[in-house]
Amino acid sequence: MAIKLGVFSAQPYEEKAISAEADDTLEIQYFPVALNTKTVSLCDNLDVICVFVNDDVNADVIAKLAESGVYHIALRCAGYNNVDLDAAKRLGVAVSHVPAYGPEAVAEHAVALMLTLNRKMHKAYNRVKDGNFNLNGLLGFNMAGKTVGIIGTGHIGRATARILMGFGCHVLCVDPYPDKLLQKSGARYTDLDTLLSQSDIISLHCPLNKDSYHLINDETINKMKNGVMLINTSRGGLTDTHALINGLKSHKIGYLGLDVYEMESELFFKDHSCEIIQDDIFERLATFHNVLITGHQGFFTQEALSQISSTTLSNISAWHNDEATTNSFLVLPPKAVPS
Ligand code: NAI
Repeated sequence: MAIKLGVFSAQPYEEKAISAEADDTLEIQYFPVALNTKTVSLCDNLDVICVFVNDDVNADVIAKLAESGVYHIALRCAGYNNVDLDAAKRLGVAVSHVPAYGPEAVAEHAVALMLTLNRKMHKAYNRVKDGNFNLNGLLGFNMAGKTVGIIGTGHIGRATARILMGFGCHVLCVDPYPDKLLQKSGARYTDLDTLLSQSDIISLHCPLNKDSYHLINDETINKMKNGVMLINTSRGGLTDTHALINGLKSHKIGYLGLDVYEMESELFFKDHSCEIIQDDIFERLATFHNVLITGHQGFFTQEALSQISSTTLSNISAWHNDEATTNSFLVLPPKAVPS
């Protein structure tokens, strides 16, 4: 019997990528809506659900999933802060994710944000389109010789560090588990305060959890160099948005590049261009000339999309065939799949 799979928050490009990798062991339904307490009733006849970064898979949702017979939550992303893993464990629902899918996709996006903010490509593009070739206000700085602080040197942080070392940057890192290879190639591990006070650019690449929530706040921003460039391609909750706005207003933060935002689930991945955006904090952020925001597109390359689809589907079949490993599984209950 085919596995009944429900894909939530499904975008047309994902439908295409997943369908291209799927075989006839799966019967797939795509739901454009996010999974949350209001939409969980759609899962009544499903075996497995596939979710993304802004689906809200809280304890209530997981209880309803378990009740209706869903035995596997397959995340099609690396981060898993939006899934209550304890509840899944308690209720015997397996949870898998895609631990790595070509970290270069996000690393290259982080560097694109740095270069765009530095050399003001977004402004130059508009000026030249408008026949304005004046250079006032476009002054940048050389990346070579600058110190970049990388917070979190897992797959993406390491890939970002490698690119930046190629530019001739000095790389400072903070991570509870230092990477020997990265150290050998010239990066230096240090404590958070040193990284904050010595870096010209700071890039966040650690996961969001209760220890890292609002890691960047008024106090940590105060420890940074005046005019620092801050880049967040990881998760919005790592930064306190009010503190970012204070830092921008006081000129402490000279450049801010965000691919993620604390309240992004209300905004991102949808077209709001004909609506009035109600989020005043987001709107304030977007008014600063030295802030560049992209809508969680760091992962969005052809290569990454196809790798995400194939790993997600192989996680689904691995669990079904009792071949699951802890590599991709965050919760691996000791029970066989119902036949
Ligand atoms: P990873 O698990 O390979 O690396 C995370 C690293 O952060 C680990 O080395 C860990 O020891 C370290 N870490 C944990 N807590 C820390 C802390 N408080 N301070 C410093 N380091 C800490 O994860 P990966 O693949 O590098 O992804 C990083 C994050 O990037 C994900 O958690 C996810 O939130 C985000 N992401 C964003 C995407 C986007 O499209 N913008 C796409 C994929 C991931």
